[in-house]
Amino acid sequence: MSTTLITGGTVVSSTGRSEADVLIDGEKILAVLAPGSTLLGHDLKSSVDTVLDAAGKYVVPGGIDAHTHMQMPFGGTEASDTFETGTRAAAWGGTTTIVDFAIQKYGERVMDALTAWHDKASGECAIDYGFHQIIGDVNDDSLKAMEGLIDEGISSYKLFMAYPGVFYSDDAQIFKAMRVGADTGLMTMMHAENGPAIDAMVAELLAQGKTDPYYHGVARAWQMEEEATHRAIMLANLTGAPLYVVHVSAKQAVAQLAAARNNGQNVFGETCPQYLYLSLEDQLGAPGFEGAKWVCSTPLRSKLEHHQDHMWQALRTNDLQMVSTDHCPFCMKGQKDMGVGDFSKIPNGIGGVEHRMNLIYQGVVDGKIPLERWVEITSTTPARMFGMYGRKGVIAPGADADVVIYNPEGHTSIGLEKTHHMNMDYSAWEGFEIDGHVDTVLSRGRVIVDDNQYLGSKTHGQYLRRAPSQYLI
Ligand code: URP
Ligand code: ZN
Ligand code: ZN
Repeated sequence: MSTTLITGGTVVSSTGRSEADVLIDGEKILAVLAPGSTLLGHDLKSSVDTVLDAAGKYVVPGGIDAHTHMQMPFGGTEASDTFETGTRAAAWGGTTTIVDFAIQKYGERVMDALTAWHDKASGECAIDYGFHQIIGDVNDDSLKAMEGLIDEGISSYKLFMAYPGVFYSDDAQIFKAMRVGADTGLMTMMHAENGPAIDAMVAELLAQGKTDPYYHGVARAWQMEEEATHRAIMLANLTGAPLYVVHVSAKQAVAQLAAARNNGQNVFGETCPQYLYLSLEDQLGAPGFEGAKWVCSTPLRSKLEHHQDHMWQALRTNDLQMVSTDHCPFCMKGQKDMGVGDFSKIPNGIGGVEHRMNLIYQGVVDGKIPLERWVEITSTTPARMFGMYGRKGVIAPGADADVVIYNPEGHTSIGLEKTHHMNMDYSAWEGFEIDGHVDTVLSRGRVIVDDNQYLGSKTHGQYLRRAPSQYLI
């Protein structure tokens, strides 16, 4: 077992910061020590195998992205990052754990789908990974199978109120699944948009000749998100199911979540970097077909209505608990361009797994959130929300040595295909400048990124069995 000492840095947690050295033994953190400490009379620097100098830098728990879709079959194609390329890109950006979605499609058995996802990911990941289970066909068989998910290390499942004919569940199906979720200790994750009404509005817009990507955002109006969020909250209230609403983008949906939480309900929400920085007007409304790059659901919202400011505010006030990416990349050529002349045929999704830690750190620099909140919403809360805390999301003795040395004096220019590592022929984040840099990344004690070099391997990442949520009220 090799030993590593990270020395001279500022260790930042969700609750504070201190000057400390971090001693790693093999895959685990052994101790967090006052700077320059000795252990049993030994000078640590000269007794460990590796010393990493973190002077002037932040030492933070590795990022946890709890919402990714590697090689997801969707929209008539497949998300362009494989588990190999997507987890490598994640590592570059300081994310050391992902929770991806195993998908039970209509007509499939849940456990068969889960096995298929294990086969896709096993031996292909640079970092540790877990799964949520998508239930795309709620029926007696899948409801029964849900009862076995905890034994598989899966403590959360996702339903869709959107995408009729694909993953959509009606209210009766949601009610039944939530009952099982409540009884078995599963977190219900919800894609909250009124799918049938959206489809009717899409048909209206297309009939009027409104075919540009911009109209994706018009069809998926905030009312569609608010209404579905409210309905999900009410069904969760009735069944006692803990509820986690994914990719929240509308300020009205946040208000629904906040009201339910104020009522004492176990209701939570995530937002994504795209809803903090990008807009209906500037990105979806870009000239010609360019806006297709930013077609995702829920959609980018109007900057005139200030949804983006509200998302930052909700992260400050804990009306939203965390930030995931909903990483679901598609290339422009051969994928997004399927929707030229019909926005409803553009595969939905944005890639960003590599940039989340940097983009949210920029929020610290810009005075939107405190430094500790950055750690909380990108690592500690995801760990607690999805049953990984103690092992992940914290720098403390006994935790996995997933650590990022982050340089606040560094700089990151997010750019084109050639400067990011995701398998995409464009970047949704082109032109973004970050006042910070991911210098070094350790995953279970192994340095996988250092000094702008990738040192990891696709066989390093392990499947992570998760416990029930540690975040419930
Ligand atoms: O546009 C999105 N969000 N694509 C991925 C699938 C989903 O709904 O999360
Ligand atoms: Zn979704
Ligand atoms: Zn998603």
